[in-house]
This record gives sequence, structure tokens and C-alpha cells, in this order.
Amino acid sequence: MPVVRGKNIDPLYTAEMIAVRNIEMAQQIAKGPNNDLLVIAVLKGSFIFAADLIRAMHTTGLAPEVEFITLSSYGTGTVSQGVRIIKDIDSDVHDRDVLLIDDILESGRTLRFAKELMLERGAKSVTIAVLLDKKVKRSTDLEADYVGFECPDYFVVGYGMDVAYAFRELPFVGIVTGDAT
Ligand code: IMP
Ligand code: MG
Repeated sequence: MPVVRGKNIDPLYTAEMIAVRNIEMAQQIAKGPNNDLLVIAVLKGSFIFAADLIRAMHTTGLAPEVEFITLSSYGTGTVSQGVRIIKDIDSDVHDRDVLLIDDILESGRTLRFAKELMLERGAKSVTIAVLLDKKVKRSTDLEADYVGFECPDYFVVGYGMDVAYAFRELPFVGIVTGDAT
């Protein structure tokens, strides 16, 4: 089992599995709405997935423009949670097909906020691609249009995803299982 920063990391989705799914998802995206397509990566956790997915999209013949938005959730537990924009996109989404890319769909609050924001700004369509779908944590009716893997309810790291900014560099998705001995 890989050891990183003194922790055992149990791989859940290998780099090979992710690469195969990225191609399959890109092929699905190519069949969806993609006129004057604007990809918006929801930072930070999606940066590696987005980088790989847009290159897989290129192999299917898609030529999107690419933008970034940084969103942050606030409030925890019983406190009602909201989402705010830390850094907005610069592009106009009016009349364009938009594809939001994020790492994990959990409660759905982050992506619901982003989707509603882009629709309010006049996007023609807003579709959503996520690497991982944690369905058991959903508290909204939001669903993704393209899902890499249904994810069990573990806290996962790697492939862009972090715990306290660490483990983003791992080429696979894994679970921190404890201290290496
Ligand atoms: P939600 O769908 O608004 O609840 O939030 C999903 C976001 O929470 C994701 O984009 C991640 O940034 C973060 N997140 C949720 N679960 C995990 C995890 O297991 N590892 C790392 N980040 C996570
Ligand atoms: Mg995120």
C-alpha cells in the first residue's frame, strides 16, 4: 500500500481506471449539448480531473473554451450552509452551452449554486461532469449528467483532492487508512 507523509493510502480508483473513464465520459460529452462550449472547472479540487478530461474531450474532436471559478461552502452541521464565490469567471456565458467540472458531488450545494448562477446569467444549457458521486450525502435534488464513479461514503484524497492541502499530487484516488508503521 502506498505510504505518503507517513500515512497509508488505500487506492480506490487507480490512474488506469480513471484514464479509461475519462475517455468514456468525453465520448458522452461529445454527444451532449456542446455548441460554443465553455468548460468551467470548479476549483480547487477539480484541477487535475479537469486537465485530463478536457484533453480527453480534445481526442473526441471537442474544442471548448476553458474557465475557472473558485467556490467555497460556509457553515457546518446544523448551521444552514451557503456557497460563495471566491474568484469568478471572466467570460460571458450568455447563450452558450456550459459544462461544469468538479471533483465530487456530495450534498450538491456547490454545484447547484454554480448551475443556477450560470442559468441566471443566460447560459443556454448547463451540464455537470464529476469524477465521483457520493449519493448517500445528497441533500439537494441535483444530479450530474456525467459521472466517473459512484463513490462509497469515505473521505477520499488524491487526483486533485486534499485533506488540509495535502495529497493532491497522487495520480490515483485513495482513502487515508491510518499511520504507516
Ligand atoms: P457539496 O456537493 O456541495 O456537498 O460539496 C462537494 C465538495 O466537497 C467537493 O467539491 C469537494 O471539494 C469537497 N469534498 C467532499 N467530499 C470530499 C472528499 O472525500 N475528499 C475531498 N474533498 C471532498
Ligand atoms: Mg470542490
